[in-house]
Amino acid sequence: MKFFIDTANLDQIREAAELGILDGVTTNPSLMAKEGISGKDQVMKHYKAICEIVGDGDVSAEVIATDLQGMITEGEELAELHPNIVVKIPMIKDGIKALKYFSEKGIRTNCTLVFSAGQALLAAKAGASYVSPFIGRLDDVSTDGLDLIEQIRLIYDNYGFETEILAASVRHPMHIINCAEIGADVMTGPLSAILALLKHPLTDIGLAQFLADHKKAAEAVKA
Ligand code: G3P
Repeated sequence: MKFFIDTANLDQIREAAELGILDGVTTNPSLMAKEGISGKDQVMKHYKAICEIVGDGDVSAEVIATDLQGMITEGEELAELHPNIVVKIPMIKDGIKALKYFSEKGIRTNCTLVFSAGQALLAAKAGASYVSPFIGRLDDVSTDGLDLIEQIRLIYDNYGFETEILAASVRHPMHIINCAEIGADVMTGPLSAILALLKHPLTDIGLAQFLADHKKAAEAVKA
């Protein structure tokens, strides 16, 4: 499973990249706004900085336009910025047309704001490179986001769709583990959820014991 980090914060992207397990970054207009990034020049500069940190990994950059021509213009500009840019397109009627357009032009896309299997099926048929079901936001409204990942996995496998399932709106480490069990191709989540995978109290207790035993043995040799 690929690991993407869901943030526009350069320090967090750097920290995840330094771990050596980062495969890419996803952003959205809210995450960009949170970093105080606005205006075309600043936005483009920021995406470029993200691409440089990530190296080989994919970087999803979302269009703001919601009409076909606007999405095409913005998407083409974003795609020209760096070869690793994946154009993020919302799941709306013109979005489907834009996905098809970009797929025919060989520009990679990520279809975002997906909340149903029907939407995921449409995105795949339109040739999206990634589809982003928002599992945390489904959990927020008392449904099970993981059920949606399972449904999409089944549908895509039934027909051999190549669109990758990018589990988004991941909130905690169990989301990541469950997505891996179900067979999501990618997960995108905050640094906190990725780092939480590291933690186990028995690891800490075991390491403390190993180090204490090593110290004792070294002192015994010295004495
Ligand atoms: O990748 C989509 C993500 O940014 C949404 O996450 O936590 O705002 O639901 P969240």
